[in-house]
Amino acid sequence: MSAICVIGTGYVGLVTGVCFADMGNTVHCLDINQERIINLQKGIMPIYEPGLEELVERNVAANRLFFTTDYSEALHNAEFAFIAVGTPSGVDGEADLSYVRDAAEKIAEVIDHPIIIVNKSTVPVGTGDWVADIIRKKRGKNTLEYYVVSNPEFLREGSAIHDFMQPDRVVLGSVHQKAAEAVAALYQPLRAPTLITDLRTAEMIKYASNAFLATRISFINEIANICDELGADVREVAQGMGLDKRIGHAFLDAGLGWGGSCFPKDVKALAHMAVLHGTHPQLLQAVMDINRNQRRRVVMKLRNLVGGSLVDKTIGILGLSFKPNTDDIREAPALEIIHLLRNEGGHVRAYDPQAMENTSKAIPELQLCTNPYEVAQDADGLILVTEWNEFKQLDFKRIYSIMRTPVLIDGRNQWDSQAMRKLGFTYFGIGQGNHVQAAE
Ligand code: UDX
Repeated sequence: MSAICVIGTGYVGLVTGVCFADMGNTVHCLDINQERIINLQKGIMPIYEPGLEELVERNVAANRLFFTTDYSEALHNAEFAFIAVGTPSGVDGEADLSYVRDAAEKIAEVIDHPIIIVNKSTVPVGTGDWVADIIRKKRGKNTLEYYVVSNPEFLREGSAIHDFMQPDRVVLGSVHQKAAEAVAALYQPLRAPTLITDLRTAEMIKYASNAFLATRISFINEIANICDELGADVREVAQGMGLDKRIGHAFLDAGLGWGGSCFPKDVKALAHMAVLHGTHPQLLQAVMDINRNQRRRVVMKLRNLVGGSLVDKTIGILGLSFKPNTDDIREAPALEIIHLLRNEGGHVRAYDPQAMENTSKAIPELQLCTNPYEVAQDADGLILVTEWNEFKQLDFKRIYSIMRTPVLIDGRNQWDSQAMRKLGFTYFGIGQGNHVQAAE
């Protein structure tokens, strides 16, 4: 069993630390945010992630998992220091690496024994070498035996623990084969295919994977918009495409586009790196444009359906988080849609099972409701933005009877269009051939 320090207790750091502890290692999770650490010590989670709280409780009780703000304590016996701090977007889309730099400098300051530094934060290609440089410079003559390994994460919010424990692959990059193998040994109990490569290639695998998944979604959203005009149904198109083993079914759900903490930031950062190095990332630009347009399209559609203007119309939003099973609203389509609706003079109210607290911090003046029916009461239109389970089987008869104008925009293709139309709703889904159907 190993002694591990994980720096950063966001999604990635916390899940990584807790899961390694659950595999029998001794893990110190460190964060510079004191309030967060005090809460974690009390068992209060900073994020909503299914299964996380129980796992923290179990491993704290077993004396394998510790939370601290003190680098000396966290790194005291550590054989591995995982860097899992945030890398927010800078003004031009470049990743802001100041937290990574701080973590590297602290490691250089505190450590007095050999250490393997594992970078889990998503960082621009070349950052691994930069981290090694920071440590070398900081130590000067007082040399340290250290090795840098890149180990990108592929965790999805909402199923992060499952994704950690049952990964499709473990990617490791280093110039030191032995160091990469030592990190591979930590993951060995998971029996996942493991790829060991060089630092820059490992860093690129992360960006390319996220950009590819975002591309698939933007691709199917573009097909959806064409389906609308031609009278085809994108859900069946995706099904038919996915049956081809070369294509597969994953990430072909048309909707309001991708959000969250990774795709938007990573696609932007990859495009920025490309431009910086003199290449023209046309596809990535289109992928981002299509994503932005998906949100605008539903607002335009709603405007048309309620008579050409949203001024003084009451619009209900179901779902605020960027996807179900998380309270994360970073780059959530709901935020952009609410902004657009309000810009056009609409009154917006919303409900979400988990993300209302975060939303009220971001948009304090937004009217929040306690349930979907309160959202629908006297509304001129209802937009399903996030496909939480509890929105799948609502009492639509009741909703029909309480709305002022029964217009439903199903931004995630969750509801049965025929049943909705039969109840009397004006229904618009994504890529369901709506324009042709409406004209017929
Ligand atoms: C993603 C990656 O999946 C993960 O590997 C990476 O490490 C972090 O980023 P996450 O952001 O948690 O994970 O969400 P994910 O489930 O991948 O969904 C991303 C976005 O795409 C969501 O906004 C979701 O609604 C949207 N999406 C996903 C679609 O619109 N259609 C799909 O078919 C799939």
